[in-house]
Amino acid sequence: MQRARVLSGVQPTGALHLGNWLGAIRNWVHLQDSHDTFFCVVDLHAITVPHEPGQLAADTRKTAALYLACGIDPARSTVFVQSHVPAHSELAWLLNCVTPLNWLERMIQFKEKAIKQGDQVSVGLLDYPVLMAADILLYDADLVPVGEDQKQHLELARDIAQQRINARFGRKGADGEPIPVLKVPEPLILKEGARVMSLTDGRSKMSKSDPNEGSRITLLDPPELITKKIKRAKTDPVMGLEFGNPERPETDNLLGLYAILSGKGREVAAAECAAMGWGSFKPLLAEAAVEALRPVQQRYAELSADPAELDRVLAAGRERAQAVAQATLERTREALGFLARG
Ligand code: TYM
Repeated sequence: MQRARVLSGVQPTGALHLGNWLGAIRNWVHLQDSHDTFFCVVDLHAITVPHEPGQLAADTRKTAALYLACGIDPARSTVFVQSHVPAHSELAWLLNCVTPLNWLERMIQFKEKAIKQGDQVSVGLLDYPVLMAADILLYDADLVPVGEDQKQHLELARDIAQQRINARFGRKGADGEPIPVLKVPEPLILKEGARVMSLTDGRSKMSKSDPNEGSRITLLDPPELITKKIKRAKTDPVMGLEFGNPERPETDNLLGLYAILSGKGREVAAAECAAMGWGSFKPLLAEAAVEALRPVQQRYAELSADPAELDRVLAAGRERAQAVAQATLERTREALGFLARG
């Protein structure tokens, strides 16, 4: 039987943080045994906000190396760079022409980012979810493992596939049943880790673009820095830690991080910390974070010493991805009525 297909990606903008790891990459690792997995570094998405040309290639390599360091195994998964497979841009154009503008104007992430950029907002920033839909739809993905903040983009990808392509351009089989052009994907958002919050504000999510570096722990932060950031993390004057108190978002977040990073789970962590003060809890959390990241940092250092190996992985990934993506693109071109390329 054919395995269900998985596709996901992370932008190579700045250092990946605990939210990217716990909300996304960590879950990809488990899927490798049961699914046909594709993971791309979405460099075309990284230029939807102003970027440093001197930094893009290095950040792309770094992100790919972090995938591997986190446990993505190129023998079981296809790891590639989005811009190395031109079908992504080409399908995005086809999808652009059937996607209503007001669907994009509704996107929460666009509105949030647009406010920050004022009159410098690019067309690419608005169009970003259509490119993301192309990423997913090109691979006939069944499942897309992401954090909570990508849910709306996933719904958009589903609507584009279903309402704008399949309903309009799908054919009917001999039995009268519709033959879809594109597969309609499902999001996979796990409860734990799907929304890691900032260390300096428990009501906003941990993000690469927060100007305050103390708001996030990155996967390559050295142990002393992790400890320092946790020591400075915002707390409240209440004694004892608990889940689910809406008045204590920072507590919920830090206890949640401890539950995942220590591997103890929510129930055990909540019982252990129920009567604990911050002075005892913070060193515990810092140790759990340092220990959880230690193997990732070790593997990253090994990979960095062998850049040719990463090149090989990305070249092989590109070839595999290209074959799948091109077939979907040709199928879509045909459904839309383009002259065959011969
Ligand atoms: P990006 O690069 O912002 O984030 C990558 C992944 O990390 C998750 N994430 C979080 N999860 C929990 N807590 C947080 N604080 C947190 N911050 C980020 C995101 O949900 C995401 O899963 N548009 C996407 C990248 C993308 C993509 C795709 C994803 C492009 N094409 C196709 C899936 C499929 C993005 O900007 O993610």
